[in-house]
Amino acid sequence: MNTRRIRWYADSANEGEVLRLLDEGLVCGVTTNPEILRADGVTLGRLPELARSWVGHGAEEVFFQTWGSTADEMVEHARELLGISPRVCIKAPATEIGFSAAARLVKEGATVLVTAVYNPVQALAAASIGARYIAPYLGRLDDAGYDGAGIIDTMASAVAGTGTEVLAASLRSPDRILDLAQCGVNAFTAKPAVLRQALRAEASDASARAFEEAMESVVD
Ligand code: G3P
Repeated sequence: MNTRRIRWYADSANEGEVLRLLDEGLVCGVTTNPEILRADGVTLGRLPELARSWVGHGAEEVFFQTWGSTADEMVEHARELLGISPRVCIKAPATEIGFSAAARLVKEGATVLVTAVYNPVQALAAASIGARYIAPYLGRLDDAGYDGAGIIDTMASAVAGTGTEVLAASLRSPDRILDLAQCGVNAFTAKPAVLRQALRAEASDASARAFEEAMESVVD
């Protein structure tokens, strides 16, 4: 029987917040990008320390994004990032040079994610070069006036069975995670606050309080 493994990733470079999620067993890895590094005040020099810390606490995959104005530069920077840890995976943007860098890195054996994928044909291109993941941005697709979930559904169908998988990003509320799960998406990255929000329901908290209260009469 085929079973689905749903995976959550922390979309953050906040070392402590990510460590807490890893220690609590709630995420299997971490995704970052240059905007996230900037927002969390992380400079390049700190990436080795962050990766070591997260991998030491069980991160299966740590995503760092390569950069540069040519494919050569992107490949060179990616090689430096890959040298940090065998668990580092490379994100490359879905641009012409990004695809070219991604294709070369795949051939070198790297785990590659093509990020900021907006168009299902780009998803196919990512599959054709053997990228392990594509990251479409649901919130940003919706912001741009598209039916984000519909487009990601099409992408997921387009790459099904190819070895390339959707790792959905820009998920700003728990219900959007559910929308995509219903399209067959299994991997999700979101800010720690969104992931934590997804764990909570008032009725569950009320039930938990009632269980605790009842337990007080049961414990000898
Ligand atoms: O991983 C992509 C994500 O960080 C973008 O999120 O909410 O800024 O669109 P957002």
